[in-house]
Amino acid sequence: MSQVQMAPAATAAMLEEKIRSRRARVGIVGLGYVGLPLAVEFARAGFSVTGIDVSSAKTDRVNAGDSYVGDVPSDVLKPLVESGKLRATADFSAVLELDTINVCVPTPLRKTKDPDMSYIVSASQEIARYFHAGLLVILESTTYPGTTDELVLPMLSKSGLEVGQDFFLCFSPERVDPGNPKFQTVNIPKVVGGVTPMCTEMGRLFYAQALEHVVPVSSTQVAEMVKLLENTFRMINIGLANEIALMCDRMGINVWEVIDAAATKPFGFMPFYPGPGLGGHCIPIDPFYLSWKTKQAGIEARFIELAGYINGQMPHFVLSKVQNALNDAAKPLKGSRVHIMGVAYKRNIDDVRESPALDLLLLLRQRGAEVSYSDPFVPVLQMDGLDLRAESPAEAAPGADCIVIVTDHAAFDYQSLVKQASLIVDTRNALKGFQSDKIVRL
Ligand SMILES: NC(=O)c1ccc[n+]([C@@H]2O[C@H](COP(=O)([O-])OP(=O)(O)OC[C@H]3O[C@@H](n4cnc5c(N)ncnc54)[C@H](O)[C@@H]3O)[C@@H](O)[C@H]2O)c1
Repeated sequence: MSQVQMAPAATAAMLEEKIRSRRARVGIVGLGYVGLPLAVEFARAGFSVTGIDVSSAKTDRVNAGDSYVGDVPSDVLKPLVESGKLRATADFSAVLELDTINVCVPTPLRKTKDPDMSYIVSASQEIARYFHAGLLVILESTTYPGTTDELVLPMLSKSGLEVGQDFFLCFSPERVDPGNPKFQTVNIPKVVGGVTPMCTEMGRLFYAQALEHVVPVSSTQVAEMVKLLENTFRMINIGLANEIALMCDRMGINVWEVIDAAATKPFGFMPFYPGPGLGGHCIPIDPFYLSWKTKQAGIEARFIELAGYINGQMPHFVLSKVQNALNDAAKPLKGSRVHIMGVAYKRNIDDVRESPALDLLLLLRQRGAEVSYSDPFVPVLQMDGLDLRAESPAEAAPGADCIVIVTDHAAFDYQSLVKQASLIVDTRNALKGFQSDKIVRL
């Protein structure tokens, strides 16, 4: 065998040895809700980790050991930074020194509901500038099936290096659930699929050093589709729960009691709950990555479109509940003071991306209501023309004409709220067990 033919095997063997011995220098591109916890896990596992982010505000905070992600306490981050295991930079030339790179950049939708691939493209371009043999690159951003092979691979292959031999490329869906006390990056099984079998094996080996369970799959497309199945499953089932809630409302049936009773069935049923609408960076967005892609193949993703429609109606439904409840109390919505409890998209976290509370606040304001909010995780709300400061529930509740529980943070004192409020619309069943004429349930 010639030297040239031997070189690729040597590249793989060298990277494998670096990963096994934890001497591999790990890079994480995008230090947000996904990237920062991942960087911390690999630093904790003994790797030297470099986070790369375009936001120097974030890299400065990481380098100061000051966490801005709820799931990463500063007292976990700080010792890793101080011991030199973890550092952050906005300079992509750091790629020159790296052996592995996980890409965790945003994948939002454009206004037209088409995928916005610009973050993946610009991160890949920067990586390509400093690309070198022996790198393992793993895309973690949620995206449509085909992205890794059709978009990222050609950008990296321009180097002239051969995938599966000179470098390794995988997709591994990020499944983190911010605020979940039981499942975090380290113990959520990690699915990984590579462009070639050697890429998959390298990805598997890499994650196995820091995470508890790794699930290899046969291709990048399978790994990409896994994430979209999971989130589409969730979005459609929430859509069904919301539709059942609309039906129950019309028939005067308590939907929460129905779901709780149905959930006693020990097989064949899994409870999903209605609410004020979908929120977050994943569930309202990811299924549209799938429907966009399948449209190109001539398949209409009808379940997704339908669930998207029903879920999108929920803030309007909550608005009508508020309006009717006020009317029953002989108060018009216009001029009434409506106080929102919780604006984060789900309980016990600070993320307001796509939060239905924002839709509701805007709808209420358009109808002439005076709006305010409480949220222990979100001190200010400045977006879409809103410029509000959080108020304490104890001060805001007594003066409000109607209180709407949009996000059921555990820190809220529901007992006091029920005492102080004159009217409460509860979109989350946070007041389960409370009996009062003041309470209007979804
Ligand atoms: N947040 C979640 O709960 C969650 C869960 C599973 C999957 N995901 C997916 O993971 C990906 C990242 O999500 P997130 O919530 O961590 O987003 P985020 O916005 O919290 O973090 C992304 C980070 O990437 C940085 N960034 C943007 N462009 C960059 C570039 N070109 N180079 C380097 N850094 C760049 C941003 O400054 C930001 O710090 C998305 O695809 C998302 O869908 C998120």
